[in-house]
Amino acid sequence: MKEILLNEKQIENICIDIASKLESKFKESEKAPVFIGVLKGALNFTIDLIKHIKIPLLTDYIQISSYVGTKTSGTITLKKDISLDVEGRDVVIIEDIVDSGISMNYLIKRFKAAEVKSVTVVCLIDKACARKVPVQVDYSGYVMKEPKFIVGYGLDYEEYFRNVPYIYVLDEKEIKEVEKLVNNHD
Ligand code: IMP
Ligand code: MG
Repeated sequence: MKEILLNEKQIENICIDIASKLESKFKESEKAPVFIGVLKGALNFTIDLIKHIKIPLLTDYIQISSYVGTKTSGTITLKKDISLDVEGRDVVIIEDIVDSGISMNYLIKRFKAAEVKSVTVVCLIDKACARKVPVQVDYSGYVMKEPKFIVGYGLDYEEYFRNVPYIYVLDEKEIKEVEKLVNNHD
């Protein structure tokens, strides 16, 4: 039996709840806020979240990497930057998981350096118990009490499982199965 952390309905309710908070926060803004999804993990969450926001907004995507298998490497590489000019705008960073906090710290610094008006941090899952560096998180969908490795709804292990529509805890058997696929270059 799979240990499901968040099913499809729970994910939808989280999106509706955070979307309404963000809509209230930015409804008086002079310039449209820019919602920036962090690829690839937060792609599903970003798309589902913005569907429920009824004020004008812009979207963009950034891609960084820090993970090797189930472990964070601690070193961040910028793989794809945003294409919009965000200077003077409210920026909302949308992440799948804040784990050690290293990735989010990097992202916050990157946008503050671009002289944005404000930075708001949203994540679907906050692994607060695994934090290595303190970091700003303004809205989170679910706070994990034990740091387990999870997949589905955009979250991957070795690029697999992103297509699963819910989020669950990956078990040892599945890790071995994926390792076989990776070794066969499938
Ligand atoms: P941090 O820099 O340690 O906070 O790492 C954050 C990133 O690691 C997230 O954006 C995820 O992409 C990835 N990550 C952390 N925990 C998990 C997990 O349990 N499953 C899949 N990816 C994870
Ligand atoms: Mg990520």
